[in-house]
Amino acid sequence: MAEIDWQLLEQTAVAAMQSAYAPYSKFPVGVAALVDDGRIISGCNVENASYGLTLCAECGLVSNLILSGGGRLVAFICVDLNKNYLMPCGRCRQLLQEHGGSKLAIMTDQGVKLLADLLPWAFGPEEMEKRLD
Ligand code: THU
Repeated sequence: MAEIDWQLLEQTAVAAMQSAYAPYSKFPVGVAALVDDGRIISGCNVENASYGLTLCAECGLVSNLILSGGGRLVAFICVDLNKNYLMPCGRCRQLLQEHGGSKLAIMTDQGVKLLADLLPWAFGPEEMEKRLD
């Protein structure tokens, strides 16, 4: 398992944030994650004139994860326009649950937390597998 280089993840998220398309909210967001094979992937938010169609930065990240070969998310970081840590929105916590699970490490203002702290009692693929057996 690769060491988590949080500094590199932060730099990658900031670079992604600088590519965001956020003309409506003027709130660019960048995310980056370490994958279990050592890859680093990123994403930025992409808004739409039909506001509700906005893609959060995490949507781009998950798309990049699958497109670049899949795998499990190990560590995740999200930054705002001021390069401060930002907590993923509720919907995106669920996206992270699917591809990283409860043990995904997330950088916060209070240090590294687990996704289980941000999304307790989560619903995920394991819950379905258990019940479909
Ligand atoms: N946003 C994200 O990209 N990820 C989050 O987890 C929180 C919110 C974006 C969506 C929208 O473009 C902007 O932040 C303001 O809500």
